[in-house]
Amino acid sequence: MSTHIGAQAGDIAPVVLMPGDPLRAKWIAETFLEDARCYTEVRGMLGFTGTWRGQRVSVQGSGMGQPSLAIYVNELFREYDVRSIIRVGSCGALTEDVAIRDVILASGACTDSSMNTHRFGGYDYAPVADFGLLSRAYAAAQAMPDVTTHVGLIMSSDSFYSPRPELMEPMVKHGVLAVEMEASALYTLAAEHGGQALCVCTVSDHIVTGEETTSAEREQTFGAMIEIALTAALA
Ligand code: HPA
Repeated sequence: MSTHIGAQAGDIAPVVLMPGDPLRAKWIAETFLEDARCYTEVRGMLGFTGTWRGQRVSVQGSGMGQPSLAIYVNELFREYDVRSIIRVGSCGALTEDVAIRDVILASGACTDSSMNTHRFGGYDYAPVADFGLLSRAYAAAQAMPDVTTHVGLIMSSDSFYSPRPELMEPMVKHGVLAVEMEASALYTLAAEHGGQALCVCTVSDHIVTGEETTSAEREQTFGAMIEIALTAALA
């Protein structure tokens, strides 16, 4: 058992899907995996291991924001021999080049967090996705006729309710497509631990147009995203 994950060595598969919401982890395990078993309930941050097309895979909630995600990602890489983590989450679109319900494969993640400022002593590190996971996810998404996919930069913000939203404008001018709250820490920690990481997001709300998805739409597009993530990690 690690500090925040109540699993024994061997309970967690080398490949982990990571939604922010622990109840999404439960839904993914129940909807997509066979023989799924819950291995942790510590702090309600549920984790499950099962099989998909005969291969072991785990699903672990991360909570919201980079500090919470970093706790689970550190423990997975350090104490459970995890090799690959794919975040599956939602994001807010920052440009009209991206529409609600689209899928974004984050090739890299900018951030307003001070986590990497401290880690790199003020130098700017560029957190990027694993190319193998990214290219397999792209191929899987291209095979889905109903899914529009973008590959590009996202912004991992520490603030859902930003006090300075105008600061996002230069980011958008430099190609940032959407905002979420976790990918930058995930990519940095995977690099530190010699692991692989990818963030796949569906656009749940549009910051420019104000559109939002309904919960039924979110479930449907979320399902396509899970298929993309499982195929990229295991197929
Ligand atoms: N901001 C941050 N994270 C998000 C958003 C947002 O607007 N939408 C979905 N995740």
